[in-house]
Amino acid sequence: MKVLGIETSCDETGIAIYDDEQGILADALYSQIALHADYGGVVPELASRDHVRRIIPLIKQVMSESGCQPGDIDGIAYTAGPGLMGALMVGAAVGRSLAWTWQCPSIGVHHMEGHLLAPMLEENVPRFPFLALLVSGGHTLLVDVTAIGSYKVIGESLDDAVGEAFDKTAKMLGLGYPGGPVISKLAESGITGRYKFPRPMVNRPGLDMSFSGLKTFVLNTWMESDKTDQTRADIAWAFQDAIVDTLTIKCKRALKATGYQQLVIAGGVSANQNLRERLNQLAKTSPLEVFYPQPQYCTDNGAMIAFAGLQRLKAGEHDGEGFSTRPRWPLDELEVLGNKF
Ligand code: KG4
Ligand code: ZN
Repeated sequence: MKVLGIETSCDETGIAIYDDEQGILADALYSQIALHADYGGVVPELASRDHVRRIIPLIKQVMSESGCQPGDIDGIAYTAGPGLMGALMVGAAVGRSLAWTWQCPSIGVHHMEGHLLAPMLEENVPRFPFLALLVSGGHTLLVDVTAIGSYKVIGESLDDAVGEAFDKTAKMLGLGYPGGPVISKLAESGITGRYKFPRPMVNRPGLDMSFSGLKTFVLNTWMESDKTDQTRADIAWAFQDAIVDTLTIKCKRALKATGYQQLVIAGGVSANQNLRERLNQLAKTSPLEVFYPQPQYCTDNGAMIAFAGLQRLKAGEHDGEGFSTRPRWPLDELEVLGNKF
């Protein structure tokens, strides 16, 4: 079965074709980073307009690269939410219309389910049940996963998402957008331990998190400093260290609470090398296996949407004659599919 995946929930137009026998046949991405860079964050209206410009050429590109004809495509999956309303509408309208024209079923996919299942694009896949840490620009969730669609959120950020904290902190330090990659690059030249930032909510029981206070801590430290390049790097190091440490502590706690020995990390922040290393380190000293996608499938992409959509289409789910998008869509409202894929 071959599925065309369309991702347009935020600032990346991602298109891919996934085949359940051969894997990813083609994968194309257009990132709007340059478009939004001057504003230090995503401007929704500019994002929608750019998806309109890019989506058809990218679909043509993956069809040509995969050697597929319209008749070879068995279904179309597009991100239906959560995300920016206008941006979602572009992918949904194009996906639903193409499915109509090509006479195949279409399905609206939950963006975070796409992220959560992305490690299954790799060779060594996790087995149900497992714990998932989903860390992106809009979400920070600890999820107890017992099957596809069976997602119990057992911990989450009460304010800023981790990716958002990286982005806002980078902006405060006068760095570029998106903040995650720039901060982690800069942190490499930071002096280890010159600053120590708080680990929010680790001294209280529970799995919820909070990152907005950390951001204020960074701002105060920066304003009171000598504002040199070295100080900026030292602050980047301390900020990243505080985030990674907090996430590691919460993961350890959630693994203990669930009794699971497999941990999936996914979403844009799971591309963070430091976070991967810390969790791999944890796996060396405990009976734990850690799974994550390769970096290009951590951040938004069409392949994860094609993969998640394929599972749902295969189980018989599909759109009716219309379509809908859901800018807000709790992960635990999804239909449970069972534990085979
Ligand atoms: O999953 P994603 O591409 O989009 C959303 O669904 O939000 O995640 C984007 C987020 C951004 O906040 C970005 O700063 C962060 O992921 N990010 C990183 C890294 N690469 C991307 N954060 C930390 N370290 C990275 N290497
Ligand atoms: Zn995402």
